[in-house]
Amino acid sequence: MITQAIVRKPCNAIINALTTSDMGPPDYQAALSQHAAYTDALRDCGLDVIELPADENFPDSTFVEDVALLTPQCAILTRPGAPSRTEEVIAMAPVIQEYYESVEIIDAPGMLDAGDILLAGEHYYIGLSTRTNRAGAEQLINILSRYGMTGSVVRLNTVLHLKTGMGYLDNGDMLVSGEFTDKPEFTAFHQIHLPSEEAAAANCLLINGTVLMPEGYPRARKMVEAQGYPVKTIDISEFEKLTAVSAACPCVSDTLNTGDNMQRTDTVKHISWIADKWRHRITGVITTLLLALSSVAGTASADVKHLTFATIKNSVNSQISFQVIREAYRKLGIEVDADYLPASRSLMMAGYGQYDGELYRIAGITEDYPTCYRFPPLLTGWR
Ligand code: GLY
Repeated sequence: MITQAIVRKPCNAIINALTTSDMGPPDYQAALSQHAAYTDALRDCGLDVIELPADENFPDSTFVEDVALLTPQCAILTRPGAPSRTEEVIAMAPVIQEYYESVEIIDAPGMLDAGDILLAGEHYYIGLSTRTNRAGAEQLINILSRYGMTGSVVRLNTVLHLKTGMGYLDNGDMLVSGEFTDKPEFTAFHQIHLPSEEAAAANCLLINGTVLMPEGYPRARKMVEAQGYPVKTIDISEFEKLTAVSAACPCVSDTLNTGDNMQRTDTVKHISWIADKWRHRITGVITTLLLALSSVAGTASADVKHLTFATIKNSVNSQISFQVIREAYRKLGIEVDADYLPASRSLMMAGYGQYDGELYRIAGITEDYPTCYRFPPLLTGWR
């Protein structure tokens, strides 16, 4: 049973969203109406819809599907492969953390768009595409296996995202088109071959027994109905102009509950706050950084080209801190790596000078680790 979905209202900047289609830019008002109808359709399927406001900083931000994979065991924040989309994740992190206790993150050099991930039964297929590389797919497979789930890769040749060209329904029923009709990975499924002129209909969602399908593909609709699925069509023509048609889909999960066990924490507020600073590029405190005195502190920055920080593993805060710090240092011409370690080992090793510093620690920590200097986290004027 799927209970909730996350959507984000399209922004005005959607007219500048990524596309390789020659259908022209979307009409903003029409996109808004279609998105509202899509949100209503999700509600009609019984979902509680979490509606995020439009984010003008990211033209593609309405395509929330790409920035997180929500599984029954954990959520995985992705690292979208289009440079203009990578930071969308920062704004999504606090939303996801509100609903999940376990939040993982894909890190550089991995790239992963969740539009490239198809759950078929219990298995996740990951498309290797222009947006998803092997490093990203391997990180995801490792994360899945830590939570008792499985994944494997599928190479894409023509479509943008895996779910642009195929979809999974239930009981082994799989919608396939184009390059997916003869992939050995999928021969064991009951394949519904879509006619090439209706290939875009593969981009559908099965939600609590109803198939949500794009409008305008009557043959595909009949094929799905013939398998016994009720179909509801929605007009997403304005989004189909933006290449990644599947990305009009929301993040949906059958594990999102509204129970009391999912509580908003200070951590969430903190990440949200970081995200705001990041998004608006305003001057201010970004995150906390401890520098190991025996290492980089006191070194003229012009001499430093590379730094390695230790930080806490399995902590989304540390991972986000690392992304912020890495970007800040990159602007100074310094590359930064992170090693994720158990919390106290991370501090001890930084304290012993094994690392150049340590990320994301509270004030007062240096009383116990006097060889570390808590670097005042003011990245003044940083843009
Ligand atoms: N326009 C959506 C995407 O390319 O990701």
